Amino acid sequence: MTILQRLIQQAKKPKGFVGSLMLRIMNMAHSGMNKWLIKNGNVYDGDIVLDIGCGGGKTLQTLSKINPSGKIYGIDFSEQAVKDSIRTNKMDVANGKVIVTQASVSSIPYTDQFFDTITAFQTHYFWPDLGNDVKEVFRVLKRGGKFIIISELYKINYHMNAYKTKSEIKQLFESVGFQSIHMIENKGWLCITGTK
Ligand SMILES: C[S@@+](CC[C@H](N)C(=O)[O-])C[C@H]1O[C@@H](n2cnc3c(N)ncnc32)[C@H](O)[C@@H]1O
Repeated sequence: MTILQRLIQQAKKPKGFVGSLMLRIMNMAHSGMNKWLIKNGNVYDGDIVLDIGCGGGKTLQTLSKINPSGKIYGIDFSEQAVKDSIRTNKMDVANGKVIVTQASVSSIPYTDQFFDTITAFQTHYFWPDLGNDVKEVFRVLKRGGKFIIISELYKINYHMNAYKTKSEIKQLFESVGFQSIHMIENKGWLCITGTK
C-alpha cells in the first residue's frame, strides 16, 4: 500500500496513533466548515442533533455551543474517532449533553424520527452504499427535520463513482423522500440540505 493509500484509509477509518493525529488535524482543518454551518443557520437551540462520522469531535463541540439547551449525538464507526470525540467533549459528555457511540451510518442505533437535525461533514463520500445510507438517515429524522451534508467538492470527485453531480444527489434525495433540497457552494465546499 502506498503512503497516499494509507492516509486515505486513515481518513476513512482512523486507527491508532496515526489515526488520532489525523483526527486532530481534521478538527483544525475543518473548523471553517463548522463556521459555515453556523452562518447558514440551520441548527436551532433546543434541537436534538446527530453528527454522523463525527471524527475528532470538533463539530460536536460547535453544535453544542450553538445549541445550549439541546442534545448532541455523535456516531462514528471508528473506535479511535469515538475515543477522540469523547476526549474533545469531555465536560459535555460527563454532563450527558453530548453522547458519542460507535456505529455505522448504515445502521443508526436510534428509533425512527428521533432527530431534528443530522449533519455529515467530510464523510458521505466514504459511506458504503449512499442510497441505502441516506434512507437510514431519513428514517431517524423527524418530519420537518434537516439533513445537512458538507464536503469538499474535490473529495466527492476523487472518492465517488456515483452521486458526483448536483442533479444525481438531488435525484437521490428526492427518491428517498426529501421534499426541499438546497445546494450552495463556498470556497470549493458543497453544502447539501434536505428537509424531510
Ligand atoms: C474525513 S473524516 C471527517 C471527520 C469529521 N466529520 C470532520 O469533519 O473532521 C471521516 C470520518 O467518517 C467516519 N466514517 C466513514 N465511514 C463511516 C461509516 N460508514 N459510518 C460511520 N462513520 C464513518 C470515519 O471513521 C471518519 O472519522
